[in-house]
Amino acid sequence: MAAVNGGSESQPAKHQEVGHKSLLQSDALYQYILETSVYPREPESMKELREVTAKHPWNLMTTSADEGQFLSLLLKLINAKNTMEIGVYTGYSLLSTALALPDDGKILALDINRENYEIGLPIIEKAGVAYKIDFREGPALPLLDQMINDENFHGSFDFIFVDADKDNYLNYHKRLIDLVKIGGVIGYDNTLWNGSLVAPPDAPLRKYVRYYRDFVLELNKALAMDPRIEICQLPVGDGITLCRRVY
Ligand SMILES: C[S@@+](CC[C@H](N)C(=O)[O-])C[C@H]1O[C@@H](n2cnc3c(N)ncnc32)[C@H](O)[C@@H]1O
Repeated sequence: MAAVNGGSESQPAKHQEVGHKSLLQSDALYQYILETSVYPREPESMKELREVTAKHPWNLMTTSADEGQFLSLLLKLINAKNTMEIGVYTGYSLLSTALALPDDGKILALDINRENYEIGLPIIEKAGVAYKIDFREGPALPLLDQMINDENFHGSFDFIFVDADKDNYLNYHKRLIDLVKIGGVIGYDNTLWNGSLVAPPDAPLRKYVRYYRDFVLELNKALAMDPRIEICQLPVGDGITLCRRVY
């Protein structure tokens, strides 16, 4: 991918603008974060799940360890108790959430694939937090529609983490905005989509990256214009946009 920070003599690079405080400049710096602040604090069960997942052919899908740590801290900061996760895979972000929630915390976990969840399940059980999880196998959208039709679910979630089919993110948002409570948070994952959002049109992108790119671009625009939420797009992992419901 072409570098996006470079300027020219006539036009200063964005990086040099006043107030630009991006610090992450290299893989080595990222590795430094992992080794200094993340891995030493990673719970044993999450380390085990990360290592098991690394052997799986689709391991690219897993949430990164630094993002797992971020989610854990965020959930504690907002005192989340009732949460939802769309897109479980082997359960790294799910385990992070389950460990962060209080004893009476709950996670509604949705994924079309139970098989991958079952790779992580023994580790989640061993960690003693499986009882907090209500896993439902199947596409998320129809289940969200069922919840939308039941007033009891409206405004009932403190936190919702969305990490599944990017082409449905806007459809999810239309429903989740009613399901999250006012003051609650929705986190949309992968909103920087491999950096492909700013790649030139002829950049050699993997097929799936190219396919989903336009959906992510559309989502980012829509979130930025949505007055019902306050947002913050963070360059953690593949980018996560936090949306706090205002009304
Ligand atoms: C990026 S992975 C999730 C990673 C996970 N959060 C973690 O920490 O490892 C995306 C997941 O979304 C699931 N998925 C894809 N389409 C879905 C849909 N329509 N409804 C629910 N889950 C879906 C996939 O089966 C896959 O497990």
